[in-house]
Amino acid sequence: MTNPNLAVKVWNHQFRNPIIPAAGPNVGSGRMVQRTAEGGAGGLLTKTISRTAALVPHPNMVRFAKENLLNTELWSELSPEEWFDREYDIALTAAREFNLPLIASLGYTPDDLAALGPRLEQKGIDILEFSIHYLDEKRLTETARALRNSVSIPIIAKLSPHSGDLGEIAKMLDPYVDGFACINSFGPTLMIDIEHGTSLLGSQYGYGWLSGPALKPLALRCVFEVARVTDKPVIGVGGVARGEDVIEFMMAGASLVGVCSAAILKGSDVYGKIAAETARWLEAHGYRDIEEIKGLYLNRYRQGQKVVTTLEKTAWVNETMCKACTQCERVCQFDAISAPLKQIAKINSENCTACGLCVSVCPFGAIELVSR
Ligand SMILES: Cc1cc2nc3c(=O)[nH]c(=O)nc-3n(C[C@H](O)[C@H](O)[C@H](O)COP(=O)(O)O)c2cc1C
Repeated sequence: MTNPNLAVKVWNHQFRNPIIPAAGPNVGSGRMVQRTAEGGAGGLLTKTISRTAALVPHPNMVRFAKENLLNTELWSELSPEEWFDREYDIALTAAREFNLPLIASLGYTPDDLAALGPRLEQKGIDILEFSIHYLDEKRLTETARALRNSVSIPIIAKLSPHSGDLGEIAKMLDPYVDGFACINSFGPTLMIDIEHGTSLLGSQYGYGWLSGPALKPLALRCVFEVARVTDKPVIGVGGVARGEDVIEFMMAGASLVGVCSAAILKGSDVYGKIAAETARWLEAHGYRDIEEIKGLYLNRYRQGQKVVTTLEKTAWVNETMCKACTQCERVCQFDAISAPLKQIAKINSENCTACGLCVSVCPFGAIELVSR
């Protein structure tokens, strides 16, 4: 079989694959955008700018549980002048060299957007993404309208999980925008340096915003919720670190996915690696084009599903696949699994409540839920 097709056309622009950067230090300068293109991203995006450079607390990034981050980076520490005089030129050169669309992120007030939007359009940016992160819910429509009235290129609204009901917000913004990005980092949240009893970040209370794989289930729910109320493209953002994550977001209804934390922690090659993993997954599952899986879950569960509260199923062990590792027994809260070391796991269906945990814990895919 030939390699599955990953190229997607969104907002009338051709993306060589659906994996693009999400705003952060990974695209915090023209040079970083260049690296993103070299690293295999399917399209490009630049760090959020506003009318003034951000006064960012230091330190502003800390890692936890290997792949996640807390940050208090706000928007770009570079001024708009620095971006317009130098950084966008470097980013645009990379975009043209690699034949990739370039999205510019901007924020935050209606005046900021009305001032910066036309300059970005004039500069040759293809698509604009504005962030609602620091906006009061009452100002959302006014903000989107200000940008809509000042530019003619496509506009994406990037939604934040703390802003409210994202389905309702998407409905409200839909008349003014051409698509959505879900989600920005979640918070505020807190981590403490317990050796010193001090804050790890330089913000007022040491608060930061959470990103990385810990955010993914929330991001997926938000993408699903927004995709249910709009036919416009949605960029899925939050915890994308491997090919399977791309598949999951696309099934929930995303047209593209954004990557920030994984690019920060693993380097700019991560975009291309995730794209290669995505292609391998598609090929192994018999798909020829990424579009074939788009909305698979969204369309199946648009109206929800019948909730089963009766005990119709029980766990079942495929003995040819069980490697006698004991993990299922350890997590079973109902005394329904017996798996002493080096012995194939046995299920006691009388005790099994079909909670499903052992199915997700088994590293070998040896347990399923089957009808009693
Ligand atoms: C250090 C850092 C800086 C960020 N800066 C911005 C920003 O300037 N504008 C923005 O819209 N989102 C910003 N984000 C949020 C990311 O774009 C993304 O929405 C979020 O981190 C979830 O994706 P991830 O799990 O792939 O990191 C930032 C995230 C991090 C970690």
